[in-house]
Amino acid sequence: MTSTFCGLDFGTSNSTIGLMQAQKAQLVPVEGADVTIPSTLFFDFEENQAHFGRDAIATYMEGGEGRMMRSLKSILGTSTMEESTMIGSQRKPFTAVLGLFISHLKAKAEQQAGKELTHVVMGRPVHFIDGDEDADLKAQTTLQEIAMDAGFQQVEFEYEPVAAARDYAQTVSDEEIALIIDIGGGTSDFTILRVDGQTKGSKQDILANTGIHVGGTDFDRWLSLARVMPHLGYQSEMLKEGRLMPVGYYHDLATWQKINFLYDHKTRADLRHLRREAKKPQLIDRLIELLDLREGHRLALGVEEGKIALSEKLSARIDLGFIEQKLKAEMDRTDLIMALDDGVSRIRATIGGALEQAQVRAEQIGVVFLTGGSTRVPFVRQSLLGMVPGARIIEGDVFGSVGTGLVLEANHRFG
Ligand SMILES: Nc1ncnc2c1ncn2[C@@H]1O[C@H](COP(=O)(O)OP(=O)(O)OP(=O)(O)O)[C@@H](O)[C@H]1O
Ligand SMILES: [Mg+2]
Repeated sequence: MTSTFCGLDFGTSNSTIGLMQAQKAQLVPVEGADVTIPSTLFFDFEENQAHFGRDAIATYMEGGEGRMMRSLKSILGTSTMEESTMIGSQRKPFTAVLGLFISHLKAKAEQQAGKELTHVVMGRPVHFIDGDEDADLKAQTTLQEIAMDAGFQQVEFEYEPVAAARDYAQTVSDEEIALIIDIGGGTSDFTILRVDGQTKGSKQDILANTGIHVGGTDFDRWLSLARVMPHLGYQSEMLKEGRLMPVGYYHDLATWQKINFLYDHKTRADLRHLRREAKKPQLIDRLIELLDLREGHRLALGVEEGKIALSEKLSARIDLGFIEQKLKAEMDRTDLIMALDDGVSRIRATIGGALEQAQVRAEQIGVVFLTGGSTRVPFVRQSLLGMVPGARIIEGDVFGSVGTGLVLEANHRFG
């Protein structure tokens, strides 16, 4: 017997949806047998259809005509959300694009449940937008409206790290103070809670929630600007003394959700003009070539792959042969550490804020529970764990803990 509620983790990079099945919170297969799906859409202009997840990435990489979209969660709460985007010859509001993705997940879960799902607890970061409560509320309201439009009748929210805490608390046997660390694609979120072993975490005492809009997609951007964009003219000199190439193009190209904005005619016309004023026009030609080929996402995927490779290896190489024969970008762990240093300091400060809010000292943290793909970056991990040297480390389900916790939360509220 399954119920009519679910938990839905709409992530910047990956999403999950889950149900209570046989009295257990279980994530649903959403792409083949996989219970996670990249939060990615590709609108195929040739077939006039939308592809989702890994299939979207593969179809884009095959080189078909179409529009690739990723990291759409990052535009919630920003003015871009009110805009629309060209999909072939049609204009589609961003809300409708997000709606397609949420509907796709809902349909997968309904297939599994064998019935319509009416109630959902969705995850949300502690801050969609840093330091702007109005924009933050707007982000949540927009996501709620999108979910209602997708057919849910009741849409509630829970902080993502609190959901992860619920997943963690299922297994606790002693009373202890836990720090939940969730470093995802878009945000880094923290919860400090006291868990009570006897009640198996059902009586959770949340002491603090903090978060910052820094995550793996920012790591991609900083690494790209440091090691890849210079090959395309970033920070290169202009003929006019003391002038450098304008930086905006490179920042957009290194930012997942902004790549498509560079494919307009004006940008290309401006760049053709700028190349004539550049000391090394051949570098700007590479940028123009990349945009002509609409390969911005291929580049971003390459950078992300390079970053992920650096979690295992000391150096990585990104093949840029699709822009110019034999072109490649090389990077090592030191490059990554330098690119991430400032962002990681801000993440550490946010953990410091959580300790302050909870009024606990670092030594009182008995256990750290890690989730989110970006906890796999060794430098990030070491820097953060260094703040609580005495704590036991528990590895959560990197891509699934938040989703599982949301199902438990939905069961608590609607079950
Ligand atoms: N082995 C790895 N090494 C480094 N980074 C990784 C690794 N695996 C995944 N990542 C990064 O983790 C991020 C995705 O993590 P996750 O799926 O937890 O995020 P999300 O839940 O979609 O985002 P958010 O919760 O912030 O909205 C991506 O930036 C990805 O590049
Ligand atoms: Mg997440």
